[in-house]
Amino acid sequence: MSSQEDVAAEPGPDTMGSSSSSSSSSSTENDATTGDIITVTIGATVPTGFEHTAAEEIKEKIGVDARISKDRGRVYFPITTDKLFQVHLLRSVDNLFVVVEEYDHYQFKESKEETLMELQQLASKLSWTNALEVWKLNRTLKKKKGYRKGGNGNKVKPTSEATDAAAADTEQQELLQGASAAESQTKAESTPDVDSSAQDSGEAAPPEAKLIKFRVTCNRAGDKHSFSSNEAARDFGGAVQEFFQWKADMTKFDVEVLLNIHNEEVIIGIALTEESLHRRNISHFGPTTLRSTLCYGMLRLCKPQVSDIILDPMCGTGAIPLEGAIEFNSSFYIAGDNYDMAVNRTVNNICHIQKRRAEKGSASGLPIDTVRWDLCNLPVRTSSVDIIITDMPFGKRMGSKKKNWDLYPSCLREMARVCRPGSGKAVLLTQDKKCFSKAISRMGGLWKKLLTVWVNVGGLHAGVYLLKRTGAVFGQTPEDVYESRGKVNTQGDEKDDKQLS
Ligand SMILES: C[S@@+](CC[C@H](N)C(=O)[O-])C[C@H]1O[C@@H](n2cnc3c(N)ncnc32)[C@H](O)[C@@H]1O
Repeated sequence: MSSQEDVAAEPGPDTMGSSSSSSSSSSTENDATTGDIITVTIGATVPTGFEHTAAEEIKEKIGVDARISKDRGRVYFPITTDKLFQVHLLRSVDNLFVVVEEYDHYQFKESKEETLMELQQLASKLSWTNALEVWKLNRTLKKKKGYRKGGNGNKVKPTSEATDAAAADTEQQELLQGASAAESQTKAESTPDVDSSAQDSGEAAPPEAKLIKFRVTCNRAGDKHSFSSNEAARDFGGAVQEFFQWKADMTKFDVEVLLNIHNEEVIIGIALTEESLHRRNISHFGPTTLRSTLCYGMLRLCKPQVSDIILDPMCGTGAIPLEGAIEFNSSFYIAGDNYDMAVNRTVNNICHIQKRRAEKGSASGLPIDTVRWDLCNLPVRTSSVDIIITDMPFGKRMGSKKKNWDLYPSCLREMARVCRPGSGKAVLLTQDKKCFSKAISRMGGLWKKLLTVWVNVGGLHAGVYLLKRTGAVFGQTPEDVYESRGKVNTQGDEKDDKQLS
């Protein structure tokens, strides 16, 4: 099999094996059957490139060290079950799962048949008990409607002013209630195995009371496997079905078993999120709406401080400034775009969150405003902005590569004009790396590149550039003088291109 990543979800039809092989690295402790607090390993998928940001957030908010997987885009960390609700409040993670078992160096057999047989046997050898307890606890937490959306619940914020404390408190309170309900339920349920005889205190018929439906999803990456993710999901799924006597269902499943295989690393888990946690702020989508988790990563890069003025001059649907206004709410955000529909979407997204907050009893608004403007000619005073954070047109779905050759230099110059010399920062996302680097090199030292984080945006390899506004005075180069008159001269830029090349 060639080097590739593949994903398959299979219910699995057939048999179960009898013995497993490699060593396990489960970090569970205590007997879950007592309903005591137990320690488990949580796995989280995060936007690729922002694994360290996620680890930082986990340390800050949950107080534990996260391990970054070899498989980019995943982190693992231990929690005690009383902290489960806090995990759902993390802003940098997309999907969560509890680890059943992990193997750092799984020795796959040579032949496909032997390997698949061993995977089947593995299902009955794993200790599922603690992970299933966490799954149950998690399900009780999830019954608390709206417990996550628009949530905040930081323990520590980089800018920890609580201007929206009421909303945060309401959300935190709901989670705490959810958590204590979940805890009492766990204590009440003395049987770790999930079967048709288990009881549930909820009004709706709980999955335990009926036949559990499940599916197995296999994510596989690596070039030394003799099998496909489909085959692994099918055979492992069949064995899980046989072992638990669950019913396979690809779409309406209660339990999603994850089989993550990355070269020699094998991790078996149970999903704790039905949909990615990045779907939290946006109700009015655009063609290039960014995931809120990626926005959070970008915001953390520029470390917003109390009373910073932060601009997203190409805001689209407002995903970045909205995440900022919710999570780093001691700064003030201005979201602008030159496209009416984008501005309208941003306004609608802000209103939607405000409404949700008002329904939860929060009177405070979000520190954000919107405006229609052309980034190349901002109605903003020189040196008045602390941070510019934006997702530039890649020139694929938005704009064109050709237009970027004019747009990028004009943007960077206008951003340099409004940004505070010496202390101002910019965090810019683009996939048009060549054009961006060329434009930066022509800025006459107004910007200094501090860091680049390589990310995957919808399958495209893009860069998040952290720039510092140097102390250089704007208006010294011929381009600056020209731009500061508020005009974008394409021909002029072309001339300069020739002179420089
Ligand atoms: C990649 S999209 C931003 C998507 C946004 N981050 C979101 O999550 O929806 C780029 C945006 O730049 C805007 N844009 C392009 N040229 C502009 C200009 N000269 N001034 C202001 N906005 C501009 C486009 O209208 C588009 O909404």
